[in-house]
Amino acid sequence: MFGKITEVPMVLATLIFSYFEVLYRMIVPRPRKSIAGQVALITGAGGGIGFQESLQFAAEGAKVILVDVNKKLLNKVVTAVEEKGGTVYSYVCDITSKSEVDLLFEKIWEDVGQVDILVNNAGVMPVRKISDLSQREIELTFHLNIICHFWLIQHVLPGMKKRRSGHIVEIASMAGVVGKSMLTDYCSSKFAVVGLSESLKHELQLEKFTDIHVTCICPMFVDTHLISNVLDHSNYKTDVLLTPEHVASVIVDATLRNKFMVSIPGYLLSLVYFLKLYIPMRALIKLDEFMREGFFPKTKAE
Ligand SMILES: NC(=O)c1ccc[n+]([C@@H]2O[C@H](COP(=O)([O-])OP(=O)(O)OC[C@H]3O[C@@H](n4cnc5c(N)ncnc54)[C@H](O)[C@@H]3O)[C@@H](O)[C@H]2O)c1
Repeated sequence: MFGKITEVPMVLATLIFSYFEVLYRMIVPRPRKSIAGQVALITGAGGGIGFQESLQFAAEGAKVILVDVNKKLLNKVVTAVEEKGGTVYSYVCDITSKSEVDLLFEKIWEDVGQVDILVNNAGVMPVRKISDLSQREIELTFHLNIICHFWLIQHVLPGMKKRRSGHIVEIASMAGVVGKSMLTDYCSSKFAVVGLSESLKHELQLEKFTDIHVTCICPMFVDTHLISNVLDHSNYKTDVLLTPEHVASVIVDATLRNKFMVSIPGYLLSLVYFLKLYIPMRALIKLDEFMREGFFPKTKAE
């Protein structure tokens, strides 16, 4: 115990240094690294955000491995990347199946080789009260939104550790920072994504793998199939939604600058943490009701 006490000045010095570093980085952002020639694997690549991530990672010179359960959507994004001159490999795979994921990586090692950047992007969002969620829906949300992230990370991380470099990008959500009605399964799975990202970051840093980076992204609502699938189109305003192009550009930028946690819009994370600490629960619930009625008055199920 006494031995530990002598380490206190070092902990305090690191704390103070970190504050200065954060302030400095607010003025002088980290430079963007080059990912030209690196291999980026994107799950759910056929979806709204995944499609744009595929185009934008490829535009940075990365070879992209695109994975999706939907062959038609996958083919569209493959054509789009190829039209822009990108190098692309594509695989149809249901990543909620462990055996399919194992098989996927056997093929990837054979066809492509190492993966430098993993983007755990695929996700689902049923919008329902907790008592109306079916067992299948709950299990699918957890399998796709968080459990398969472990399998994918376990496949790419040993190689990254050998090379002492790599990047894991986790697409969480603002629903992983603050709870919301009708989204109990989605929010809890996204809270888990934030927890996974934070724990993984700590683990890698403490193991001295300082060049294996973790980035966790928390967007607000984005105009994609995920939203239009569950909300009554006539009742929500698309102008309050973020565009997938913008969201993907922030994701790529955060990756290239090795940022850890980024909300979209950027100010939202600090605002929400502040509100959660200093605003009473009754007021937060009123805010939830206000947002629900203002932005998303009716789900298709209602
Ligand atoms: N759209 C939003 O408002 C929003 C907000 C915050 C976070 N996010 C997160 O961003 C990510 C991407 O969402 P999106 O809006 O582009 O969704 P989307 O519905 O447009 O796309 C999801 C993609 O995942 C694929 N997919 C679904 N099940 C799969 C499976 N079992 N195996 C492989 N692929 C599968 C789908 O075919 C689809 O192409 C998700 O993790 C989502 O939770 C979305």
